[in-house]
Amino acid sequence: MALLKKTHPSITLPIFLLHFCAITFGATDTISRTQPLSGDITIVSKEGNFELGFFSPGNNGNFYVGIWFRTISKRTVIWVANRDIPVSNASSPELAITMDGNLVLNSLGAPIWSSNSTRKSSRSSTAVLLDSGNLILRDQYNSSDIFWQSFDHPTDTVVSGQWFGIDKITYEYQDSVSWKNQEDPAPGPFSYHADLVTMSQYVSIWNHSEVYWQSGNWTGKAFTSIPGMPLKSDYIYDFVNNSRELKFRWTTKDVSVITRVILSNNGQLQRLTWSNDSEEWITGWYFPAALCDVYSVCGPFGVCRTGSDEQCFCLPGFRPASSRSWRLGAWSQGCVRQTDIQCAESNISSAIKESDAFLKITNIKFSQNPVKLKVQSMEGCRSICLSNCSCTAYAHKQDCNIWNSELWDLKQLPNGNTDGSDMYIRLAASDHVVQDSEKKAHHLRLIVLFAVLGSIFMALCALSITVKMFQRTSSRKAFSDNYSLVVYDYSFLRHCTKNFSDRVGQGSFGSVFKGLLPDSKPIAVKKLQGMKQGEKQFHTEVRALGKIHHNNLVHLIGFCLRGAERMLVYDFMVNGSLDAHLFKDEKILDWNTRFLIILGVAKGLQYLHDECQECIIHCDIKPENVLLDVNFSPKLADFGLAKLMERHFSRALTTMRGTAGYLAPEWIGGLPITPKADVYSYGMMLFEIISGRRNSELMESGAIRYFPVWAAIRISEGDISEILDPRLSAVNFQELERACKVACWCIQDNEAHRPTMRQIVQILQDIQDVSAAPVPVFLKQLVDGEYISS
Ligand SMILES: *[C@@H]1O[C@H](CO)[C@@H](O)[C@H](O)[C@H]1NC(C)=O
Ligand SMILES: *[C@@H]1O[C@H](CO)[C@@H](O)[C@H](O)[C@H]1NC(C)=O
Ligand SMILES: *[C@@H]1O[C@H](CO)[C@@H](O)[C@H](O)[C@H]1NC(C)=O
Ligand SMILES: *[C@@H]1O[C@H](CO)[C@@H](O)[C@H](O)[C@H]1NC(C)=O
Ligand SMILES: *[C@@H]1O[C@H](CO)[C@@H](O)[C@H](O)[C@H]1NC(C)=O
Ligand SMILES: *[C@@H]1O[C@H](CO)[C@@H](O)[C@H](O)[C@H]1NC(C)=O
Ligand SMILES: *[C@@H]1O[C@H](CO)[C@@H](O)[C@H](O)[C@H]1NC(C)=O
Ligand SMILES: *[C@@H]1O[C@H](CO)[C@@H](O)[C@H](O)[C@H]1NC(C)=O
Ligand SMILES: *[C@@H]1O[C@H](CO)[C@@H](O)[C@H](O)[C@H]1NC(C)=O
Repeated sequence: MALLKKTHPSITLPIFLLHFCAITFGATDTISRTQPLSGDITIVSKEGNFELGFFSPGNNGNFYVGIWFRTISKRTVIWVANRDIPVSNASSPELAITMDGNLVLNSLGAPIWSSNSTRKSSRSSTAVLLDSGNLILRDQYNSSDIFWQSFDHPTDTVVSGQWFGIDKITYEYQDSVSWKNQEDPAPGPFSYHADLVTMSQYVSIWNHSEVYWQSGNWTGKAFTSIPGMPLKSDYIYDFVNNSRELKFRWTTKDVSVITRVILSNNGQLQRLTWSNDSEEWITGWYFPAALCDVYSVCGPFGVCRTGSDEQCFCLPGFRPASSRSWRLGAWSQGCVRQTDIQCAESNISSAIKESDAFLKITNIKFSQNPVKLKVQSMEGCRSICLSNCSCTAYAHKQDCNIWNSELWDLKQLPNGNTDGSDMYIRLAASDHVVQDSEKKAHHLRLIVLFAVLGSIFMALCALSITVKMFQRTSSRKAFSDNYSLVVYDYSFLRHCTKNFSDRVGQGSFGSVFKGLLPDSKPIAVKKLQGMKQGEKQFHTEVRALGKIHHNNLVHLIGFCLRGAERMLVYDFMVNGSLDAHLFKDEKILDWNTRFLIILGVAKGLQYLHDECQECIIHCDIKPENVLLDVNFSPKLADFGLAKLMERHFSRALTTMRGTAGYLAPEWIGGLPITPKADVYSYGMMLFEIISGRRNSELMESGAIRYFPVWAAIRISEGDISEILDPRLSAVNFQELERACKVACWCIQDNEAHRPTMRQIVQILQDIQDVSAAPVPVFLKQLVDGEYISS
């Protein structure tokens, strides 16, 4: 204030007030010693181009301080302060200026990130967010005395006007480092910076050791390896190269054009421009153009399939190290073994040979140098690898090549390309997918074994042999391929479920019990009730169900028949059913998880409707039938049971629920059922997922509050925020809007007006557009008079 008074001595009070208001109530672009930043408060650059504050990219309670574009509808972060040390909301973090003039992020009173500027301010410093997106730390009274700026410490993004280069004397350089995945800004393995060797170009590097892309020299118009740089008429390019420094920047001539260059999660350098019309980022160029040219893009034990359909997969016997990252399309964390190899270093005996096995994977190109040994035969190479526990793989091509560590940067070449070689990967025997010819022999052997054991059993009737039978059953499972079902013995299941003592559910078709297989794998055993079907037909239909495999369908492992009793055995889902998470106040599901559930269920249903040999109508879509695995990925349960249970089923349904549940009007009208009945129930369930409450609730007054009609009216009026679960804080409104529109279209009276599951998946993924739906008449009439808007 002293400064203000000095410059305007005659008018003190009004200006003082204005100034005060601007700081306290309007948006500010400054963090000063007396005004730290915390919670939902943000600062905004003067013209409003950029905003700085706390954000949570995964909506998972991990908060970061970041800067993002403020004028576009999709939050896009260009800089993160504490990228590898998130703070949780509960600990009330605070971004503040310390006594020594640095900008520091404190959590629970302790500093977890600091600007670490060594140049001390003589007086007092202040942090200002500029309209370029640069956060600067400067002297409070001398705006040209800047000690630190975020542009010098980029995360993965470079924006218009930002210098990027190297000081050839001090070796300080800007380094753009990829995020782990789009929900985790922690540094990934890829970085992009000036070439530290030639100091005359830029390079992309994996693990700071393998250069996999070079920009080439600046020609005055472009870098030689980036032929498609935008025209000079739209951009200003500044390239500086002398004995002291190398640096480059681009600036858009039209300030309303929003563009950025990032190093993607998968190591590609990309130029993106915001499109006002389609409201999304449009990719200009990206390098390397082939994903598989990024060094080790699929991480350890991952393989990049080259060719037209480039993508990563895990070596057989391996699974993604982080299934979340993998699903988000960020592969660099690679894969881990499903089962540890059995090798025991001290004891190289025949026992080991049986416990580990090698799996051949064809036409692999590798860049990681193997140990080369002069061994003539394939068999010799194999036994060398087998006898050393640190050996992970071998390949025999002229020499014997042995790898003794994690495998990196594997590529599988398309058929016909002969540059690759066959590689043999060491696996635990249980992960070893038995090759076709061997498999038949195995089965034969097992059948003989079972026959023999069976007759011994009958002859002796000894209890000890029953125990052996259990072991055989589980070993048979280990050898069965993915597509065959295990036929379980009743006493075995009784043993696994501790005499059916742990009941975890009661559905329309019977009770579900939890059990453990001898190898500790948890299972869910469903005892079907009221089955009238013959044994043969049951076999046929269950076997058909056993052939259905999809990520969003619960996996059927096997079944059991005993007299009139029928049981189905499934993978056990640790996180139970969706209703338990939606309607109870325990730990609520965040929006992101909910949206993935919405999408996952749609994909599972689409698969049942369109992609199975015979169209399967589920007939019983509801939150109780959506199970959640350890990552909260949804798996639809009970598919195919409607057919299995035949007529009994529709009676069960109609007696179980009132008219206004999940049942489509055609059920009630007795019309033939098509897949659109599932679409209807799916829509009903969407309302529950979005709102976090049951569609119909008995109010204290005795009236029934029927949510979907009220919600459909709101949605048709374009007002979606009110129907959202009030417990949710951070929500992607575009996703919410799409989900709401889908829900309304799904519950249309006329089934011809409802979309197909295929269309729903496309709308949810934003591949297809959709308008607002009319309010369904049937429902409205059905509940008129009963419904109260809450
Ligand atoms: C932090 O938590 C409080 C209470 O749990 C909540 O009101 C607030 O919105 C949260 N802040 C953010 C940024 O999510
Ligand atoms: C700041 O310096 C401290 C101590 O030297 C170091 O531990 C920390 O990682 C530095 N932080 C940043 C953001 O460079
Ligand atoms: C402001 O800071 C700049 C850069 O450090 C310096 O050259 C200049 O003398 C300072 N001006 C004043 C009035 O202190
Ligand atoms: C990655 O770099 C680190 C540090 O330079 C090194 O110790 C490590 O071995 C590298 N990883 C691989 C797989 O090369
Ligand atoms: C770039 O320039 C350097 C130094 O003039 C030269 O050694 C190098 O060969 C050039 N690189 C390319 C790809 O032309
Ligand atoms: C950059 O400058 C260095 C030293 O001045 C020079 O040797 C090199 O050729 C220059 N590179 C380019 C690409 O201009
Ligand atoms: C994009 O939209 C924003 C806000 O509506 C506007 O300010 C800007 O000029 C538009 N940019 C272009 C390139 O049309
Ligand atoms: C190696 O295995 C054999 C039998 O398989 C066993 O008798 C012997 O004790 C084992 N040796 C060591 C060092 O574990
Ligand atoms: C296994 O291979 C590693 C790496 O080549 C070597 O250091 C080790 O001595 C070998 N172990 C045995 C038992 O041969």
